[in-house]
Amino acid sequence: MKTYHDIVGDGGSNVAAQVKAQAEQLEQRLANVKYIVAIMSGKGGVGKSSLTVNLAAALQDAGHRVGIVDADINGASIVQMAGVSRKPEFGSHGVRPAVAQNGVQVMSIDLFLNEGDPVEWLSTVDHSAYAWRGLVEVGVIREMLADTDWDAPDILLIDLPPGTDKLPNLLDILPDLTAAIVVTVPSRASQYVVRKSVLIARKFLGDRPIGLVENMAAFICTACETEHVLFRGGDETDWISELGVFRLGAIPFDPELGELVDSGQSYMPPAVSGTASATTSGAASATASPAASAAATRSASPLPVAVLAIRNIANKMLEMISKSPIPDPASEVLS
Ligand SMILES: Nc1ncnc2c1ncn2[C@@H]1O[C@H](COP(=O)(O)OP(=O)(O)OP(=O)(O)O)[C@@H](O)[C@H]1O
Ligand SMILES: [Mg+2]
Repeated sequence: MKTYHDIVGDGGSNVAAQVKAQAEQLEQRLANVKYIVAIMSGKGGVGKSSLTVNLAAALQDAGHRVGIVDADINGASIVQMAGVSRKPEFGSHGVRPAVAQNGVQVMSIDLFLNEGDPVEWLSTVDHSAYAWRGLVEVGVIREMLADTDWDAPDILLIDLPPGTDKLPNLLDILPDLTAAIVVTVPSRASQYVVRKSVLIARKFLGDRPIGLVENMAAFICTACETEHVLFRGGDETDWISELGVFRLGAIPFDPELGELVDSGQSYMPPAVSGTASATTSGAASATASPAASAAATRSASPLPVAVLAIRNIANKMLEMISKSPIPDPASEVLS
C-alpha cells in the first residue's frame, strides 16, 4: 500500500497542496462565525437532530444568524426536519445553503439527493466501499464545509451522528470548535454510553465547555395535566459534575414536537412578534405558509413546556459558550 509520502509525489497531483488549500478555504469560510457548537451523543435516537433544529430556531428567533451543518452523512435528517427545499444553488463562490422559513441556513448531503435516497459509497468491490467509509465521511464533511457559501452566520450548529468517535473526527476538520452539547435520555443504558462519549469529548476538547441536555425527560399528559416518568432508574449521573459538564436543561417528551419536527414544520413559535430577525419575520409574513400560520397560532396560546425548555437551553448554551473557554461549573449555568 502507498504511504502518504508516496501519494504526495505521485503523478504530479500535488495532494499536499490540495489538502492545504482546502483547509485554508475552510478556515476563511468560517473566519467570521463566532461560535461553532457540535450536538453529539454516544447514543442514537436520543433527539440530537431535533434538538439541533429547535435550538437553531430559538437562537435565530433571539436575533442570531444560525447555520446548521448536517454531519450525519449516512443518516442525514436535518433537511427533512428543517423543512428546506432540496435544490442547492451553485454560485461563483460555492454552494449556497438552503434557508428555512425562520431564516436558519442548512447544509447537508441530503440537499444533493432525491428525497429518501441514501448515500451509496461506490467502489470497484461493493463490500470494500464500506471499509473506507469512515475516512471518506470525514472528507465529505470537510469538503462540504470548505465549499459552502454561508450568508454570514454567527453561530454554526453541527449535528453529529451517534458514536464516541464522531467528535474527534470533527475536531480534525474544525480544531477551533467552541463547545459540545451532549444529548441523553434519562435511561441507564443511554447514560452509560453517553458518559463514554463525554469522557472522549473531555479528552479532546480540553477545557472547552461541554453541556448536557436531557431529552424525553418526562411525559406531560395534556388530559390529566400530570407529569409521567418515561424512563425509570436513569439516575447514574455523578460523572456530570466530575467531568465539568453543564446541565443545560431537560426537555419533556411532547408528541407534537415529534410530529411537527419530523414533518419539517416549525415546533418553535416566534418568541414575541417583532423580535425575530429581519429574515425570519420577512420570510414568515411574505409567504404566510401553513407552517408559519400554525407557528403564529401556537404562539398566541399557552406555550408547551418543551418550547420553554428549549428556549431556556438556548439561553444557557449562549451563556456557557460566551464564557468560553471554561466557566465555573458551579456557576448559575448549572442551576
Ligand atoms: N422531546 C421529544 N418529544 C417527542 N419526540 C421527540 C423528542 N425528541 C425527539 N423526538 C423524536 O424522536 C425521534 C428521534 O429523534 P432524532 O432523530 O432527533 O434523534 P437523533 O439522536 O438525531 O437520532 P440519530 O442518532 O439517528 O441521529 C424523532 O422522531 C424525533 O422527532
Ligand atoms: Mg440525528
